[in-house]
Amino acid sequence: MDVIRLGLGGFGTVGSGLARILEMNADRIEKRLGKRVEIAKVLVRDLTKKRAFDPGPTVTFTDAPDDLVNDPSIDIVVELMGGLDTAKDLMLKAFAAGKHVVTANKHLLAEHGLELFQAAADNGVGLLFEASCAGGIPIVQTLKESLAGDKIVKLLGIMNGTANYILSEMTTKGVNFEAALADAQDLGYAEADPTFDIEGFDTAHKLCVLIRMAYGVDYPLADLPVQGITGVTPMDIDFAREFGYRIKLLAHVEDVHGKLEAGVHPALVPYTYLLARVGGNYNAVRLEGNAVGPIMLHGQGAGDLPTGSAVLADIMNLVRKIGDGCVGPDNTGFHNQPIPKAKIL
Ligand code: NDP
Ligand code: HSE
Repeated sequence: MDVIRLGLGGFGTVGSGLARILEMNADRIEKRLGKRVEIAKVLVRDLTKKRAFDPGPTVTFTDAPDDLVNDPSIDIVVELMGGLDTAKDLMLKAFAAGKHVVTANKHLLAEHGLELFQAAADNGVGLLFEASCAGGIPIVQTLKESLAGDKIVKLLGIMNGTANYILSEMTTKGVNFEAALADAQDLGYAEADPTFDIEGFDTAHKLCVLIRMAYGVDYPLADLPVQGITGVTPMDIDFAREFGYRIKLLAHVEDVHGKLEAGVHPALVPYTYLLARVGGNYNAVRLEGNAVGPIMLHGQGAGDLPTGSAVLADIMNLVRKIGDGCVGPDNTGFHNQPIPKAKIL
């Protein structure tokens, strides 16, 4: 039986979630792939830190990124560290070494995605990123595979679990903003710097990634209007409820006669709409294709197992493609063609 060996960059919330699923569902994964998937090495910052999950004695921990890329026995590098510089460097070195990469790093993809997709394509390897957008919801696969032939007219949704958790706790339990944020951090939903969650930037990163998937164009992050939830007060929430609304942090993009209108902001959503009822760390994305019509995807947008599930789906997808002799997967769903700039309304 063949074995696929992973080099994990990061063993925090998502890395340990992935390790748990690999152990919990090992039989099913092996049956579906005809191969075992195992973690060979894990890259962390602090080798002395006690870990939430013990991946077993066969896994080597290192604090040297090159230990992953220089190890010829590693087939896939899984980047779950977050941040920009070290993660980008690790990915570029992995591509150059002929290794496929799976990442959950929407910030890096939003800022440097064009360069990274090009580098992966140049090296004939895959760069898959399902977990980067909306945690456990298969939104990337939906845009890439299920709606491959549809023209996407509109995309609207809640794409940050931390912000949604805070707004839900404030609305349903009267918890204050700071306490709700502290809970979200304890539960592993928040970014290392939670400013990204509460100021809307994390949602903006995801929207940039999804615009590429939906429209095949690059909408520069700097051009995206972004407003977070730090200005939302308990009084705003009470008034909204009194008039039959909920306040939600929404991302939206729409094709208006060939130009894109997009942004991130808190919005009043009528309680009769499904989006208003999305609570806790859940996300929901409403897509509208010109053939399929509207589709709504709903699920946990943050957390160890939901996000680990999306990472594992990418790993298994890559393993199948490697098995089919398809060594250069179509990373973006647009045949790895250069991605032009978006026309912005
Ligand atoms: P954590 O902070 O929990 O874990 C990060 C891990 O990466 C830690 O193990 C840390 O090491 C390691 N690490 C960070 N920087 C370095 C570095 N420079 N060199 C070596 N190791 C490093 O983050 P998460 O697991 O929450 O998030 C990881 C990625 O997944 C991020 O890109 C995030 O945006 C994304 N993501 C997170 C989700 C979530 O629900 N948490 C959901 C979807 C995506 P050490 O443990 O020693 O500090
Ligand atoms: N911090 C992010 C969130 C993690 O709360 O949605 C999932 O991308």
